[in-house]
Amino acid sequence: MDNFTFYSPTYFAFGKDNENEAGKYVKRFGGTKVLIHYGGGSAVKSGLLDRVKKSLENEGISFEELGGVKPNPRSGLVYKGIELCKKEGIDFVLAIGGGSVIDSSKAIAAGSLYDGDFWDFYSGKRRIEKALPIGTILTIAAAGSEGSPDSVITKEEGMLKRGSSSDALRPKFSILNPALTCTLPPYQTAAGITDIMAHLHERYLTNTKDVEVTDRLIEGLLLTMIHEGPRVIEDPNNYDARANIMWAGMLAHNNAVGVGRSQDWNSHNIEHELSALYDCAHGAGLAVTMPAVFRYVYKHDVTRFAKLATRVWGIQMDFENPERTALEGIDALENFLKRIGMPTSFAELGAKEEDIPKLVDVLCYGNGRGGSIRGFVELGVEDCKKIYKMMVK
Ligand code: NZQ
Ligand code: ZN
Repeated sequence: MDNFTFYSPTYFAFGKDNENEAGKYVKRFGGTKVLIHYGGGSAVKSGLLDRVKKSLENEGISFEELGGVKPNPRSGLVYKGIELCKKEGIDFVLAIGGGSVIDSSKAIAAGSLYDGDFWDFYSGKRRIEKALPIGTILTIAAAGSEGSPDSVITKEEGMLKRGSSSDALRPKFSILNPALTCTLPPYQTAAGITDIMAHLHERYLTNTKDVEVTDRLIEGLLLTMIHEGPRVIEDPNNYDARANIMWAGMLAHNNAVGVGRSQDWNSHNIEHELSALYDCAHGAGLAVTMPAVFRYVYKHDVTRFAKLATRVWGIQMDFENPERTALEGIDALENFLKRIGMPTSFAELGAKEEDIPKLVDVLCYGNGRGGSIRGFVELGVEDCKKIYKMMVK
């Protein structure tokens, strides 16, 4: 196991009705003037926004509102949020929504304490040292941003989708009420399940030896997703299945299961170009990307893929032909994702084969990357072209 540090200071309030205590949590973590940030309307429609506003009023906390975050959040609204925070003297950002709203909130929180262009943090020019405190009320189990130090934003010019990471972005508190996720359309629920499973795979694919504790934790979380995913697709109001998925989503990405080991992230990097260009759901993009990437790289460590196939998918080990076991595991993942309603090909994402050179160029050279992406294996321009082509089918 490699040396590591792990700092995960978020206070979690998990379970029914906790959103009505939002005001108390904001107060506890020092907020006096809040920016409430939310998405395209689900929080308004469900009455969640009104309940949160009421709980702030009950605590005598004043607030400003900024809605309209789109999935794959854009820099335009971040600039607007930063301007608002600076003008109104905001000292706390409260996100109501999923990964997109939370990531936009994180970017606003960092940009509000910075004199330059917030994109400097996403282009790799500057590191985030400080940010306004953030709280979240999660409405979809997926990205894991409620416990992660990460934020992913798309810059409209060039549709560059890039991430930034800093412990300063870890939420002070996150309210996780699984009941809030019952209104999700099945496609979004399935995209969330896929993203959670991707976060687990990106950590499982490691070059570090002897990491049994994190291997076993990841396997357990994947088994949970395989059990609960179809249950929630079948019955969207199954609170307990929603609850297990919501907590698994947090655990999958706050990095408790990724410490002390090298990680992959090639599937995420390859997918981010798809959701940037075609505005598809991140999880849906991953459903198409992961099987292709895994079939391209499995020979790098057949045993690791065979271990995943046997321990997680219950496939019999073929000792004469471990490659076969490894490939059966990848097939099992792809079939599972299809079964919960996820796409399996480029065309289903709205992606076009003729765009592959453009996708590869931004992927391998954008933001100062030197012609390759590095994870479980290093993938150059030709590798990435082949992987995108495998997705065309
Ligand atoms: O905008 P509203 O109206 O709220 O609708 C949203 C949106 O259309 C809807 N939704 C959310 N909760 C709902 C609901 N609809 C009905 N009922 C509810 N309870 O769902 C749609 C998707 O929301 P979004 O926030 O985009 O989903 P997700 O959580 O999957 O976030 C995706 C973004 O997170 C990034 C992705 O790249 C993508 O931009 N990621 C962030 C990470 C992080 N910060 O750690 C890591 C991830 O790997 C990921 O890259
Ligand atoms: Zn993801």
